[in-house]
Amino acid sequence: MLKVGLLGAGRIAGVHATAISTNPGSTLVAVSDINGDAAAKLAEQYGAEALTTDAILNDPAIDAVLIATSTDTHSDLIERSTAAGKAVLCEKPVDLSLARAQACQKLAAKNGKPVMIGFNRRFDPNFSALKAAADKGEIGKTELLSITSFDPAPPPVAYIKVSGGLFRDMMIHDFDMANFIMGAAPITVSAVGTSIIDPAIGEAGDVDTAVVTLTYADGRIAVIKNSRRAVYGYDQRVELLGSEGLLQAQNMLENTVVKSTTEGVTGAKPTYFFLERYMPAYAAEWAAFVAAVNAGSALPVTLDDGVAALAMAEAATQSAKTGKPVALSEVLGA
Ligand SMILES: NC(=O)c1ccc[n+]([C@@H]2O[C@H](COP(=O)([O-])OP(=O)(O)OC[C@H]3O[C@@H](n4cnc5c(N)ncnc54)[C@H](O)[C@@H]3O)[C@@H](O)[C@H]2O)c1
Repeated sequence: MLKVGLLGAGRIAGVHATAISTNPGSTLVAVSDINGDAAAKLAEQYGAEALTTDAILNDPAIDAVLIATSTDTHSDLIERSTAAGKAVLCEKPVDLSLARAQACQKLAAKNGKPVMIGFNRRFDPNFSALKAAADKGEIGKTELLSITSFDPAPPPVAYIKVSGGLFRDMMIHDFDMANFIMGAAPITVSAVGTSIIDPAIGEAGDVDTAVVTLTYADGRIAVIKNSRRAVYGYDQRVELLGSEGLLQAQNMLENTVVKSTTEGVTGAKPTYFFLERYMPAYAAEWAAFVAAVNAGSALPVTLDDGVAALAMAEAATQSAKTGKPVALSEVLGA
């Protein structure tokens, strides 16, 4: 039984607390948050103790920590947790600074404890089935990947200001999805972005609508489309074209009823947002972490994957500013 400390008691921590408690291989023993009331409330809900982060890291009975604190704390907490001998699952992104994330990557490797990054979409049953079919060669040689990822509504501008920008905060999931499906990192990243939904987002120095094109050494191409607003709900689709066919992962809908009348044919909207769409994925992500840590086997998503996606976000941010493609090697200093 993996004994787990949860760092953070905010929005996503609540989702993880459920996953930890319902998994038969793990138990939630403690929760910490700089907001002591939030930690106490979440801990009580799951029969755990509210402790400080130091107390969790110093407790030898705690095997693993799940880091669900604000992004600016991730690198520090990964370093401290692995130094304390804990296995780690940390929410995305690793950091907002690529250089800081790379320093964390080096130190965590030295500490030698497993670190997984919370790219939950890899565990979505639709996307993982698409990936499995592609890997089995069911559409021949893959050629063109298209990822659509639209949020239902933009977050508050106060959040945008500390988010690190759309590419690091939002498209980071899609960069990882591209790496997951293509099985390789791209060689160039070209981005265009605009703040067409809310001028206040532009005034805060960010974009709310963006398209990125990725090129690969073997000639393949990927396109990622992001928007902070889709009035019909959370639009999360992946399409992969190959030499022998096409794979498409469609949206999850609120229900499967299709109404056909003389007026036309209509159906339900996509589920509203990530908590509705990805709940099974968060549980599967945690289950994969527990299984790998208990078996001492390789993690399905690593800190290296987190840094790889962040490098693409960095390249996209630069490209959107300059209007020029950016070689990933330039960003990585390779
Ligand atoms: N994978 C996903 O789908 C997904 C979804 C939402 C958020 N996230 C990521 O999860 C992280 C948290 O997001 P959220 O929406 O839950 O934010 P949130 O603001 O609701 O929660 C963050 C919590 O961390 C606490 N905190 C901040 N610094 C701390 C510290 N040093 N020690 C202990 N606690 C501290 C805050 O008090 C707050 O309660 C972010 O990095 C975000 O990018 C991932």
